[in-house]
Amino acid sequence: MSDSESVRLSVAMIDVLDDREGEFEAVHHELTALVASKGYANVDLFRDEASSKRFYAVRRWTSLAAAEQCHGDGEVQELTARLHQVARVTHVVNGLRRADSLRLLMDDRRTLVESDRRIGFDRRIKDVGRPEGDRRSGVDRRLGPRRLQAQPGAIDLVAAARRARERADAAFSHFKVGAALEALDGSVIVGCNIENATYGLTICAERVAMFKALSEGHRAFTRVAVVADTESPTPPCGACRQILWEFGGDLEVVLANLSEEKAHHRLKDLLPYPFDARLL
Ligand code: THU
Repeated sequence: MSDSESVRLSVAMIDVLDDREGEFEAVHHELTALVASKGYANVDLFRDEASSKRFYAVRRWTSLAAAEQCHGDGEVQELTARLHQVARVTHVVNGLRRADSLRLLMDDRRTLVESDRRIGFDRRIKDVGRPEGDRRSGVDRRLGPRRLQAQPGAIDLVAAARRARERADAAFSHFKVGAALEALDGSVIVGCNIENATYGLTICAERVAMFKALSEGHRAFTRVAVVADTESPTPPCGACRQILWEFGGDLEVVLANLSEEKAHHRLKDLLPYPFDARLL
């Protein structure tokens, strides 16, 4: 058995979204060729025998340094982001043990929040920017630094939203909601609904998550999970759809309750014919 410092294997479980298999295969092929040509890793892709849309991608890293370099590589990140547009990626085995232990620390921030609600927690490891430029072009005043962290999909987004929901302050409606937003670099930023005595100043979990993320420098996002304790899924309200759209684009929206995932949507389907900066 090797110890955690010498593990050089990563396994990702990939669930391809409906009707996106062609795109997935093309992007995955490109990504595999790229990481091989740069000497980072060799990647094998296996289809799950029981589920035709599920794959396992096994990366054999050349070295720990190569794995870390790969995660910081702008070209790799660009392709990874495209992969996340067509598939859900869950990291099952993370060969990057050093980064992984940091991720675990970041994923469970409850103790920090409970011991002192006023302290912040810097979830960034390093700030190296995005050499390939901004995701949005044209008139866009919301440009900011790019925070690079680790590969997207490393954290169970629904689980993060469930944990965030526990911190909801819903003294008036008693309807607690949790949200978890995944940034392009794999960071997960959570939110819960916060109500107050005037009712109208209530802010939903999704907007709390998005505003927190923006205020911490994140500018590109891939998915958002919303959790409530209801049998039928709780979709984002109209105001949240607008904010999520303007700052997150066509996110994948995962709706879940305390025990299961109930629905997956694209934000553009939840907000057809949107108003946004392109119309100003
Ligand atoms: N709420 C959210 O936080 N997110 C949603 O997607 C729907 C509604 C909150 C707002 C309010 O605190 C409570 O749920 C009841 O509307």
